[in-house]
Amino acid sequence: MARILVTGGTGYIGSHTVVCLMEQGYDVVIIDNLSNSNIEVLDGIEKIVGRRPDFENLDCLDYPNLDRLFTRYPDIEAIIHFAASKAVGESVEKPLMYYRNNIGSLVNLLELMSVHNVKHIVFSSSCTVYGQPDAAHLPVNETAPIQKALSPYGNTKQINEEIIQDTCHSNANIHATILRYFNPIGAHSSALIGELPNGVPNNLLPFVTQTASGLREKLRVFGDDYNTPDGSCIRDYIYVVDLAKAHVKAVERMLSGKAEEQVEIFNLGTGRGLSVLEILRTFIKVSGVHLKYEIVGRREGDIEQVWADPKRANEVLGWKADTPVEEVLLSAWNWEKRLRGIE
Ligand code: WQD
Repeated sequence: MARILVTGGTGYIGSHTVVCLMEQGYDVVIIDNLSNSNIEVLDGIEKIVGRRPDFENLDCLDYPNLDRLFTRYPDIEAIIHFAASKAVGESVEKPLMYYRNNIGSLVNLLELMSVHNVKHIVFSSSCTVYGQPDAAHLPVNETAPIQKALSPYGNTKQINEEIIQDTCHSNANIHATILRYFNPIGAHSSALIGELPNGVPNNLLPFVTQTASGLREKLRVFGDDYNTPDGSCIRDYIYVVDLAKAHVKAVERMLSGKAEEQVEIFNLGTGRGLSVLEILRTFIKVSGVHLKYEIVGRREGDIEQVWADPKRANEVLGWKADTPVEEVLLSAWNWEKRLRGIE
């Protein structure tokens, strides 16, 4: 069975994708510099799958050692590239770190794909490339206009997509699938892997579960004065395991030669928008936990509402994100309880 290189494979989405790949029989080698994840994730993967992925503590910016990795694993047939810095706020404070890391890593991988004759790459992109779609473009599909990024993080996603397009245009041997994620949430049903943010979480769900577990005093809801039914922002929250399955579908499509274009783009969402307050109400219902939260002012850079039109991924990839949000929120809570030793 083919071997897949997963960069950032001890991260949140990466680890769930490694589990799905290995369950489908793929061999996996993970490279990760562990700057935003823990090596113990490998134990969780092994417990779920029953075998351990190969792992190399490597930074994608380290060209010589990355080159040696491809020599050590000559059977790599495809890459799934997750490794990147991804905190929107941090990217505003440290733009050059984001441009160097996120762009330099991809350029190294693309160069080495030519050197080592690796033909396929799946790139982890984001719905942030759309910015705030106008009403005519909601739900947002892949033809929606790309808008000027609101942060260096979002800009690196846009720039990297263009780098991939240009590279594939100049090199017929490289095929790419660009996956634009909406808002990944939840954890594997075993509660053996999940989201493990370093420090104070930026994203909604880890902050919710950490507040519910007592780690955080209360959750702040950033604004309820938006032009939405309940005034809070709307997002497309997608179960991370459903998202991981889409990556396996993308790899299978490319390895089987079914990809119709050299670069294919898919929006990965549920197609359903949920507001922050709807998420909180549902979490309280499924967890039975009284969640303390306070409505505060808007967070700079937040867009008001975005959710996916996943039709193309449903029809072309044969993939659908259909796990009920109640089940997804409970999976996040079970993971948090296991992390904190709560019964
Ligand atoms: C969701 C909603 C907040 C925290 C970002 C990136 C995106 C992807 C996911 C990397 C917003 C509200 C949040 C809190 C809150 N990142 N919120 N209180 O901003 O939609 O997307 O993370 O791949 O690329 O842009 O996700 O979870 O931060 O926020 O009220 O403590 O929850 O205002 O409306 P976001 P988020």
